[in-house]
Order: sequence, then C-alpha cells, then structure tokens
Amino acid sequence: MKVSDALNSRTSVRAFLDFPVPMETVQEILLTASRSPSGGNLQPWHVWALGGQELARFKALMAERIKINPMGEQPEYKIYPPELKEPYRTRRFKTGEDLYRTIGVPREDKPARLNQLAKNFTFFGAPVGLFFAIDRQMEPGQWADLGMYMQSIMLLALEKGLSTCPQEAWALWHKTVAEFIGLPSHLMLFCGMALGYMDPEHPINRLRADRAGPSEFMTIRGF
Ligand SMILES: Cc1cc2nc3c(=O)[nH]c(=O)nc-3n(C[C@H](O)[C@H](O)[C@H](O)COP(=O)(O)O)c2cc1C
Repeated sequence: MKVSDALNSRTSVRAFLDFPVPMETVQEILLTASRSPSGGNLQPWHVWALGGQELARFKALMAERIKINPMGEQPEYKIYPPELKEPYRTRRFKTGEDLYRTIGVPREDKPARLNQLAKNFTFFGAPVGLFFAIDRQMEPGQWADLGMYMQSIMLLALEKGLSTCPQEAWALWHKTVAEFIGLPSHLMLFCGMALGYMDPEHPINRLRADRAGPSEFMTIRGF
C-alpha cells in the first residue's frame, strides 16, 4: 500500500465487525509504529492493548461505572480550549453535524446523540481497545511525538486491512482506565483508540470528514 493511499483512505471508523484481530498483528503494529520520530529520540509513548477476555472484563466494568455516573469523570486535561475560536469552532460543529446526519440523528434529538457518544465507551464494537499515556513531566513537543506514534499505528493498521478511531473521549474515564490497566501515577492517560475490521454496511462509516483548502493553512514561498 502506498503511503499516499493509506493517508487518503484512512478515516475514523465508528462501527466494527465482531471479528477478532490476532495478538501477533496487534503486537507487530505497535512495535513497527515505534519507528516514529520523536524529539531527542525520547520515544515518550506508552500503549496498552486490550482484547478478548480482558476487553470483555473492561467493558463490563465500564457499563457498571456509566450506570452510576453517566457524565464520566472530570478530565485531567482540557480536551478542547474552553472558548474555541474560529475557524476551529465551525469545523468542529460541521464535523459533528455531518457525523449525525449519516445516522439520521437531528440536532434536537439529544438522547440519540448521547447514545452515539456512549458508543465510544464500547470502542464502537471493535475487538481491540488501545490506550495511550504519557509521562506527566512531558511538554507539548512530546505530546506531538505521541500523536505521531498514534498516526503510525493508524496507517499500519490499514496495511493489515484494519481500521481505527482515535478517542480522546476516554479522557472522561481516566480514573477507571487507570485503575483497570494499572497505570502508574507518573503517567497520564491521553486517549484511547478502537482497532478492528470496519463494518462496511454501517452508515456512520460513510462519513468523509471535510478538510480545509490549502489557502487556510499552507504558505509556500521562494519556489
Ligand atoms: C486525538 C484524537 C482524538 C479523537 N477523539 C475522538 C473521540 O473521542 N470520538 C470520536 O468519535 N472521534 C474522535 N476523533 C476522530 C476525529 O473526530 C476525526 O479524526 C476527525 O473528525 C477527522 O475525521 P477522519 O479521522 O475520519 O478523517 C479523534 C481524533 C483524534 C486525532
């Protein structure tokens, strides 16, 4: 698979087939992705992969916790800036609208929207759930390194016929995740990622999220 084909075909998938991914495949992807660059070669990423019985056990715990506390836990970091400015605010809004349109959920239907949001916490039915954490000592540069590691995983997954959805929604459940995976206190959970085989029939997977045109982000000089 060409790198450009992988980049152009990757989308965030939010409905998966109930079909297992072999542990060796997961291991290979997570290891190959460690060839990602990082400032000073710090390699600041930490990753956990849950599958099979462990994922089932974790999902059962999550179901219990959500019943008791449907709003989740206070996140440790701000997922978005509180006063998100333009053009980011509009981009976020538009992506949300486009997503809910694929499944025929109108703006007013709050319960249906919350129901879709809650699917994050089952990894959208994926057979593998990943969690990514970073040392609390790290600065923005190392968070970017972790992002590159995650992008490498998402592209390598495609080569194996697999799909992904990165999920910062897990920041809302950082205590429960930390408790389950035994996250040491010097590490902070950044986010999760669903990994598995895409359900090609599910309408939510038809979303092809917009991208801004080059004039909005690109400056090229001197050619
Ligand atoms: C760090 C990160 C966290 C994300 N968290 C979530 C999430 O919690 N739930 C979700 O449905 N999508 C999540 N997304 C997916 C984005 O909504 C998606 O990448 C964006 O809309 C662009 O769509 P595309 O990935 O299909 O190109 C996340 C993406 C990134 C990079």
